Amino acid sequence: MAEKPPAGPNDLGEPVSVAALSLADKATAPNAAAEQQIDPWSVSAATDEHGNILAFDYEAISRKWNTKLIDDALLQRFESLTGHKPHRWLRRGLFFSHRDLESILDVYERGETFFLYTGRGPSSSSMHIGHTIPFEFTKWLQDVFDVPLVIMLTDDEKFLFKEDLKLEEVMGFARDNAKDIIAVGFDVKKTFIYSDLEFLGTAGKHMLLNAWEFSKGITFNQVRGAFGFDGSTNTGRIFFPNLQCVAAYATSYPFIWSDDPLSPCAPKRPPQSHQDPYFRLLRDHTKSMSHKIPRPALIHSKFLTALQGAGGKMSASNPNSAIFMNDTAKSIKNKINKHAFSGGQETLELHREKGGNPDVDVAYQYLTYFSDDDEKLERLARDYRSGELLTGDMKKECIALLQEYVGSFQERRKAVSEEVLNEFMRPRRLEWGGNPNPKKP
Ligand code: TRP
Repeated sequence: MAEKPPAGPNDLGEPVSVAALSLADKATAPNAAAEQQIDPWSVSAATDEHGNILAFDYEAISRKWNTKLIDDALLQRFESLTGHKPHRWLRRGLFFSHRDLESILDVYERGETFFLYTGRGPSSSSMHIGHTIPFEFTKWLQDVFDVPLVIMLTDDEKFLFKEDLKLEEVMGFARDNAKDIIAVGFDVKKTFIYSDLEFLGTAGKHMLLNAWEFSKGITFNQVRGAFGFDGSTNTGRIFFPNLQCVAAYATSYPFIWSDDPLSPCAPKRPPQSHQDPYFRLLRDHTKSMSHKIPRPALIHSKFLTALQGAGGKMSASNPNSAIFMNDTAKSIKNKINKHAFSGGQETLELHREKGGNPDVDVAYQYLTYFSDDDEKLERLARDYRSGELLTGDMKKECIALLQEYVGSFQERRKAVSEEVLNEFMRPRRLEWGGNPNPKKP
């Protein structure tokens, strides 16, 4: 493998725009109105003055973080360029915001290559239905564009950010989660999955070189601004963002593309909105690298609502907040029936008279994520509003769909042996079909 050239002068003389996140006001008393808070490690919805939890305001997030909302014009261009109808999650606004997606479409139109990048912080052994969403979506993008994909498992991050986890535990979670991710259906020829703790000590040399180079252009004040660190933050946490940033560089994985570690590619990733601070930092600092790096484009998704309803986030530490990918059909049924927040009325009579509200009904919300059938969804919402369809009916629809989704996942998961896992995690050349658009001379 060729060595990297020595780092050039750091040309970061100009002001950098790392947007600061507003972290929760720790002084807020319980039951007082509080703003929503979103950072890479914790997420909480706003509350009103009575302490009631409110739904996330995603447009406000987009305004605050200065991202663009995905609009019809962009989706139309996507469709005419790729020949694919946009995924239901794009059509229904569940992937709602982006940075520079147009530039990826430009790249594709010009017949050039790009790659996809996403990741997961492995903090528990089984994933839930909210975790699979970015991976399902990434797989769809990979199928549409026929491009290589890199999946980063930040076991180092989880070790540093969760007090009670040991190194061996997070490395074990990374392997368990990688099996779940593989079961989403990725093609091993086009996909590389790695655990930071494992990879950085072996074939991750170029990623580490990139991280050192990148870190030289970032001050403590800048990461503190982006992530809310303070003087008592452990030093691992302060360095870690460099790793998640340079993971978006093609040059961190020279073995995937060629023997030339500096071949430039335009990376892109489809993750959740709370990971955006890393990418802001990265996009603002590509100049600190000695080789030319295109700015990655991003897509942001909304959070899948917890069973308890609007404003909640599914959590691995609360089994009743989520449907897990290893839940049995029976427990899916029980969880939806017992714990899914209902937008229906309290009594049958009232429901028939006033009708239900599908917008806050968790069973209906899950249907909008997992059912492809636009007409059926419209009908369910209409009949719910009119009071004709009852909460129990809506839940039944949802249970059947989720049992199907989780059941077929479990079938594929059974087929993921240690050998299959090892092959996905082996640093190697990837093979993909390339771009059907003719490359301009
Ligand atoms: N830090 C992320 C998490 O804790 C994992 C991650 C790494 C990631 N790289 C990513 C997520 C890129 C989205 C996109 O979940």
